Amino acid sequence: MRYRSQSVAYWYFAWAMCLFGLQLVFGLLMAGKYLGPDPLIGVLSFDTAKTLHTNLLVVWVLSGFMGATYYMVPEESRSELFSIRLAYLQLGIWVAMGLTAVVGYLFGWNAGVKLLEQPFPLKLVIVAVMLMFLFNVGMTIYRARRWTVTEGVVLAGLLFSALLYLPALFRFDNYTVETFYRWWTIHLWVEGVWEMIQGGFLAFLLIRLSGADREVMEKWLYVIVGLVFMAGILGTAHHYYWIGVPKYWLPIGGIFSALEPVALVGMAMYAYFAMRRSGVAHPNGLAIHWTVGSAVFTLFGAGLLGFAHTWPAVNKWTHGTLVTAMHGHAAFFGAYAMIVLAMISYTLPYLTHNRSEKGSTLGYVAFWLMLGGMFGMTLSFATAGLGQVYLERIMGMGYLDTQLRIQVHFLMLIGTSIIFSAGVMIFIWDFFRTGPKLADEENAAGEPLVEHA
Ligand code: HEM
Ligand code: HEM
Ligand SMILES: [Fe+2]
Repeated sequence: MRYRSQSVAYWYFAWAMCLFGLQLVFGLLMAGKYLGPDPLIGVLSFDTAKTLHTNLLVVWVLSGFMGATYYMVPEESRSELFSIRLAYLQLGIWVAMGLTAVVGYLFGWNAGVKLLEQPFPLKLVIVAVMLMFLFNVGMTIYRARRWTVTEGVVLAGLLFSALLYLPALFRFDNYTVETFYRWWTIHLWVEGVWEMIQGGFLAFLLIRLSGADREVMEKWLYVIVGLVFMAGILGTAHHYYWIGVPKYWLPIGGIFSALEPVALVGMAMYAYFAMRRSGVAHPNGLAIHWTVGSAVFTLFGAGLLGFAHTWPAVNKWTHGTLVTAMHGHAAFFGAYAMIVLAMISYTLPYLTHNRSEKGSTLGYVAFWLMLGGMFGMTLSFATAGLGQVYLERIMGMGYLDTQLRIQVHFLMLIGTSIIFSAGVMIFIWDFFRTGPKLADEENAAGEPLVEHA
């Protein structure tokens, strides 16, 4: 850690770890509910559990993005953060918002819009937090009068994420209209501006972990971002097939979203060639696993498994089934969970005491358990989903009858998600195993904190 203010990143990561753990509790509860009988039915409904599961995911990933940005910007702009205090105040409000949302959801305080369930007052708090964050980071760069393409891409991604959240503040009486705009936020986040954030972090990590030349890496980063938007913007229409909008959205959605994997192939090649051509220039092998792993798993979960059901002719059968859950898990994990875990694995030796730069054995165990577990979960959802599509949509069997016949796949889901959860628990344990370095420690000890290139 070169700059004392980078230490704020630790606390954002710590919050992300807590929410990650809690997210899994609701995932396991939902898997249990699918198997039934459900003793909690009167206390926690499936939809409340799902709201909590997905919202916790989004909030922990965003906390990770914020922490990683607070670590990255001082290094890229070669300056302390504009205000450490503001960063902590922002975290305090963010944590309070998160806790209120969790309790609120448990008591039915829910806006009822899928993935945007946050009640209106909390949405306003989220906007305020984003503004504080962007102001702090923006002022840091403005004051330093120095910026790099890598941080610029991450920041543009975060700025657009905030802007794209604005349509979510409006409510529409017409369900079709509401669904139409809902995807401006959700789809354009995960298949647009968040991919900029992932790409920027990928560049940051690859430049440090391999010996790759910054100029070359940043040039290709532009190409990847260009490819993301070329397909991703009109690709939104792959959510418009059956919602009551004109038919011309079908070919638009099919063609453009089918092109989306091109950018993801680009991203995987980006990581592969950086490592292959420039070799390894850093001892942190664990961070290399997460970094390259993220690019590869995104290609699998988002690229391949997204492509598999994005054509109208396929989606007409699979829409809203467990096939969607299959893709949702693998894509979100590969792209956004793994890139945050990569940034954590890279920065942790600098943010905490007594930690080897190489990454711990525990860290590797966590990596492989999570990877294997998530692969198994993806297969469980896939087999359940295919069974569901066949029995329910092709044979015309009722929804609940179908569910009874695919229960074995939920046993498989529970088994594989226990493996996955074990990996997450080990990661979290490894994270909290050693204490953090504090922002004022440098002065107290009279010597600088660990330096690195
Ligand atoms: C990292 C990138 C991605 C993430 C995190 C992601 C995540 C998700 C999630 C969570 C859903 C469920 C949304 C809902 O129904 O509320 C979904 C749906 C969908 N995704 Fe993705 N996705 C990504 C990339 C892609 C790509 C590249 C494609 C196409 C090539 C794709 C195709 C689809 C389709 C067609 C649906 C709708 C499924 C249905 O009709 O039920 N996704 N995605
Ligand atoms: C212990 C591990 C986990 C279990 C048992 C689990 C289980 C589930 C279940 C049963 C659902 C509901 C599917 C449905 O609506 O039919 C779900 C939804 C979802 N989960 Fe998980 N999950 C786990 C971890 C994760 C992780 C790590 C991620 C992301 C990195 C994730 C992302 C999602 C998403 C995006 C949805 C919504 C998908 C949709 O819209 O259909 N889950 N999960
Ligand atoms: Fe999409």
